[in-house]
Amino acid sequence: MESPTPSRRPVIAGNWKMHRTVRESVELIRQLKPLVEASRHCDILVAPPFTALWSAARAAEGSPIAIAAQDLHWESQGAFTGEVSPGMVAEAGCRYAILGHSERRSLFGETSRAVSRKAEAALEAGLNPIVCLGEQLSERESGRTEEVVGGQFRQSLAGLTEDALSRTMIAYEPVWAIGTGRAATPEMAQGVHAFIRGLAAEVFSRQAAEQLPILYGGSVKPENVDGLMARADIDGALVGGASLKAESFAAIVNFQT
Ligand code: 13P
Repeated sequence: MESPTPSRRPVIAGNWKMHRTVRESVELIRQLKPLVEASRHCDILVAPPFTALWSAARAAEGSPIAIAAQDLHWESQGAFTGEVSPGMVAEAGCRYAILGHSERRSLFGETSRAVSRKAEAALEAGLNPIVCLGEQLSERESGRTEEVVGGQFRQSLAGLTEDALSRTMIAYEPVWAIGTGRAATPEMAQGVHAFIRGLAAEVFSRQAAEQLPILYGGSVKPENVDGLMARADIDGALVGGASLKAESFAAIVNFQT
């Protein structure tokens, strides 16, 4: 018998990247709070820089805004100069961690093997990983999108149990759409999201795949969020530039359901 499709709760996440000081982060959350306090139709999270995590978490108390780290290291402690452990960001007030963002993969040489270790360590510390996948423009143009995204999925999630996957999200972020103002069309994004869900069914199970939130990222704006969110396999958005202003991020959070 067909099982009913579980309804996946939408997720709107803001990745602040290397923007906003402690003071600015607290101010941005202060501005955002009244704009999203009645927004109960989705989960809302923001990822400030490491330095601002603790203060941002305090500023967000009593609101629906949850805090995410932008990265972490897989070890819990040790001689790893410059790194931050899963337990440290959890203690600072994070519930989520963005892992394997394309900027980390391309600018800092992060491999899917490293992402997989980070995802396991994040889960161990009680955090929900948001694992990013996405192809470069040349890979899309040479018809290799599924090969690249599929390889990243298999390697970045290698070793996760089905239970671990149930606490994990995927963000599909085509590299050519990040920071360019050139978002994927809803059709293009839906196609890759459906491919990822199919792969999750193959690697894990159909039920796990149906419950897996898959967010789209890459030039999401108040003007294009409705079209993206209307597609069956697009469960949320991971927003960069437009998450740095309270008004535009709130407009995305309050997308047309
Ligand atoms: P933009 O929304 O600025 O394109 O960034 C997307 C992104 O990289 C979010 O992680």
